[in-house]
Amino acid sequence: MASVTSLSDSVQQHLASALSATLPEAAGADPLLRRSDRADFQANGILALAKKAKANPRELAAQVVGRVATDGVIKDVEVSGPGFLNITIADRAIVENLAARYADETGRLGVPAAANPGTTVIDYAQPNVAKEMHVGHLRSAVIGDSVVQLLEFTGETVVRRHHIGDWGTQFGMLIQYLDEHPHELDHKASAEDTAASGEEAMSNLDRLYKAARVLFDSDEEFKTRARRRVVDLQAGDPHTLATWQKFVDESKIYFFSVFEKLDMEVRDSDIVGESGYNDMLAETCRLLEESGVAVRSEGALCVFFDDIKGPDGNPVPLIVQKSDGGYGYAATDLSAIRDRVFNLKANTLLYVVDARQALHFRMVFETARRAGWLDEDVTAVQLAFGTVLGKDGKPFKTRAGETVKLQDLLDEAVERATAVVRDKAEKVGLTEQEITENGRYVGIGAVKYADLSTSAVRDYKFDLDQMVSLNGDTSVYLQYAYARIQSILRKAGEARPAAHPELELAPAERALGLHLDQFAETVLEVAASYEPHKLAAYLYQLASHLTTFYDQCQVLSADNPAEVVENRLFLVDLTARTLHQGMALLGIRTPEKL
Ligand code: ARG
Repeated sequence: MASVTSLSDSVQQHLASALSATLPEAAGADPLLRRSDRADFQANGILALAKKAKANPRELAAQVVGRVATDGVIKDVEVSGPGFLNITIADRAIVENLAARYADETGRLGVPAAANPGTTVIDYAQPNVAKEMHVGHLRSAVIGDSVVQLLEFTGETVVRRHHIGDWGTQFGMLIQYLDEHPHELDHKASAEDTAASGEEAMSNLDRLYKAARVLFDSDEEFKTRARRRVVDLQAGDPHTLATWQKFVDESKIYFFSVFEKLDMEVRDSDIVGESGYNDMLAETCRLLEESGVAVRSEGALCVFFDDIKGPDGNPVPLIVQKSDGGYGYAATDLSAIRDRVFNLKANTLLYVVDARQALHFRMVFETARRAGWLDEDVTAVQLAFGTVLGKDGKPFKTRAGETVKLQDLLDEAVERATAVVRDKAEKVGLTEQEITENGRYVGIGAVKYADLSTSAVRDYKFDLDQMVSLNGDTSVYLQYAYARIQSILRKAGEARPAAHPELELAPAERALGLHLDQFAETVLEVAASYEPHKLAAYLYQLASHLTTFYDQCQVLSADNPAEVVENRLFLVDLTARTLHQGMALLGIRTPEKL
């Protein structure tokens, strides 16, 4: 499928060939093209090349200018400053290029599909069984889902893995308690009402957990029975496993209700929790021990690293198997790597996990490298994210210091967003049903956008007031930009969007058009670097260009000649499509009326 080349691509090519014609040794060099305020683009690459060739940069630049082909794309190129090139694009080229993209039925908006797509296994949205999800799980889900959309859009094969915490000694106590109190997980809510059953599931689990804990701490005999259960569980006793499964199923009811509220697809078949690797653990240890990657130390199987030391200066090992024979988090992750590399045939392993687990992943990845499971062809990356803070700048908790219930948090976001939507509903003519639906899209979009619009590694403040604000860098600002365009298109009546390359463009039209042109390279860059915040920034700028455009250019004015109306409708329609696609890549909806 031929994709539509972007203008910056063709400018880049024009410059590169002029450059290598002038200075053969510069063949393949990057002219360092940037969007610029002085002209449409500026190229800064000649300075370094001149230095290398011991040439005068301004003279070299002037020679390059003489060789730049003016074939309709580049209208003007001139030397500026110490040897920069300022490049102006022909209006016609801007419109023709965008028109090709507009006509492209694949709807890819100029984004080429990867020539050699690989397989990425992405580990994200991994809550823990029998525990309340917290804001960290929300971040992993939101960032991970956006990266999935981005990678799939570029043609990558993506395998999703929700590595839920579903195994460990804590289950002994829970299983024993449930066996002794068999009705603790019964439901009143109907299975169809996912939100209600999700909430009920979590409160059941929470209540059971607390009661089991109290008994465990106060009743020695219960403690002994609970410990025996851990042994039964590890030995695969069928009855014990069946009870354990009840916890997993109950937790999934809760997880799915949260993901549904988040308007996010999580498939059951992609949930492969820690227990999914149990069969591989012994072999993983054997392989590591036989190859000498891991060694026995005080009975435990350990991997040591020169550069990883504790506060006392002693090396801190990665413990693959404890001295009592038990396996932990690391053994599971190492087994998962083997599964993902050798069975799922991944080229890239991506982990969307809290930055506080960075040391764990560094040690796990290094161990896998030493074992030969990871190499230049198969790489592993932790897409680490920062902590969610409350308005007070401290880690986000309730006043009592407890985990904030995600359901409540999302409900509150939707409630506030619905109030914002309702305020304008009459003017826009929204039905009650549309108000409810838009309230969800705006509220959930706000939460996602706040998370995705800052660089993942940074901590960010969870501030609902700011998130649903109509002004500033928020999702609702972008959603309004989209809906406003739809309203114009509806009002256009007979007039249809159509490109008119013969027209001269106003400055705001050029700025909007050139920014639209950058969509493809932005998406590719963002997908390659796993940085959705750069896509958010791009979309925010797009909406800002649109605002300036409205200020300076009337679309449906009776004073406009028909071609101008059509051309402007075309520009705004392409802007809407770009906003819609870009937001979808962030996992955010764009309602038609708002
Ligand atoms: N369940 C873990 C947590 O809640 C996250 C799992 C991350 N993924 C992994 N492969 N270790 O922190």
